[in-house]
Amino acid sequence: MVKVAILGFGTVGSGVYNVLNKNKDILKKRTGSEIEIKYVLDLREFPGNPVDDILTHDFNDILNDPEVKVVAEVMGGVKPAYDFTKQCLMAKKSVCTSNKELVAKHGEELLGIARENNVNYFFEASCGGGIPIIRSLNEALIADDIDEISGILNGTTNYILTKMSSQGLLFDDVLKDAQDMGYAERNPEADIEGYDAQRKIAILSSIAFGKTVDHESIYTEGITKITPADLEFAKEFDSTIKLIAYGGKKDGKYYAFVSPFMVGRDNPLYSVDGVFNAIFVHGNMLGDAMFYGSGAGSLPTASAVASDIAHAVKCGDKTAYSNWQEGKIELSPIDSFESRFFVRIEKSLKETAKRVFGDGTDFKEIPMDGSECAFVTDVMSEKEFEEKASKLSGIKSRIRCK
Ligand code: HSE
Repeated sequence: MVKVAILGFGTVGSGVYNVLNKNKDILKKRTGSEIEIKYVLDLREFPGNPVDDILTHDFNDILNDPEVKVVAEVMGGVKPAYDFTKQCLMAKKSVCTSNKELVAKHGEELLGIARENNVNYFFEASCGGGIPIIRSLNEALIADDIDEISGILNGTTNYILTKMSSQGLLFDDVLKDAQDMGYAERNPEADIEGYDAQRKIAILSSIAFGKTVDHESIYTEGITKITPADLEFAKEFDSTIKLIAYGGKKDGKYYAFVSPFMVGRDNPLYSVDGVFNAIFVHGNMLGDAMFYGSGAGSLPTASAVASDIAHAVKCGDKTAYSNWQEGKIELSPIDSFESRFFVRIEKSLKETAKRVFGDGTDFKEIPMDGSECAFVTDVMSEKEFEEKASKLSGIKSRIRCK
């Protein structure tokens, strides 16, 4: 029998409680141990809910109980989750979390403390909800040198872009609708400005490339400036627009960014709609692989936390291998990153655009706004694009192309 504690009884915490209880027999068969929830920590009361019997308001009850071997930290935020996690690891309790904010900020240090104490710090649920990407990187892809990890890592923005595209709606209207339906947070900044995806790609890149990628050094653009006209034009180019998080290495340089991208129909990310996430991995031996599934929600996220708990139980007092080791990765500035660019302009600027970007440029128009046209440039660096764009005043939007 292994006793565990859950820190936080919110959306994910209650999900972990349900998964561990509902799949108790399966977990016993597969881990060889019965997993029993001994405590749930939350400041609130839950009268009438069976969780009330194991509820505590005092973290020390958990920290000082030697029977508790694994702790699920599903509180979110850095404070007090960082202190609680550190104390649990130092008390030789493994910690499993969905807390991407904490992992992105202190992952390297917490992994180190776990190693020193022969326990584990697992965070499968921090990226891509229920999609098993982190253990895949650390174990299933251990024989590969990964040179790209990218994809759709935020369900809220993917839902908004999908709705804007399919129904021709404005960003603000879809956001309000998503908030009313509970898909988007009341404070949506982290999602719509790209910070949530930024933390997730920092974590995934740190594992893929072996050292910490500082999330604050990742160039990040959100989706707030995307308009129905951009999405209509995208269709003319047989494409759609997705918020892409990218981590990659090219010619010895590392790049990471989050930005809206025009994605063509031939790209597997084109068909990833609604709240779903998809993560594309390229390895030197593997070639391409894509992981697709539920990137958020109580049970998918809890499934990943519960799977980490089972893994921690099986590991006992051995720290599992993590490819995320000590040290920092220096990211190259986005200036030298190369892509094509979609550009939307007033029709009157067409001739100037041809002079600046080349005669062969293919212009498209859409009926919904007869005064505009759009084109896609050749492949060029960000720097080169900015230089050319500065000669074309009145660009209405520019979106990178995958
Ligand atoms: N706000 C996140 C999303 C939740 O929309 O993807 C899962 O991390």
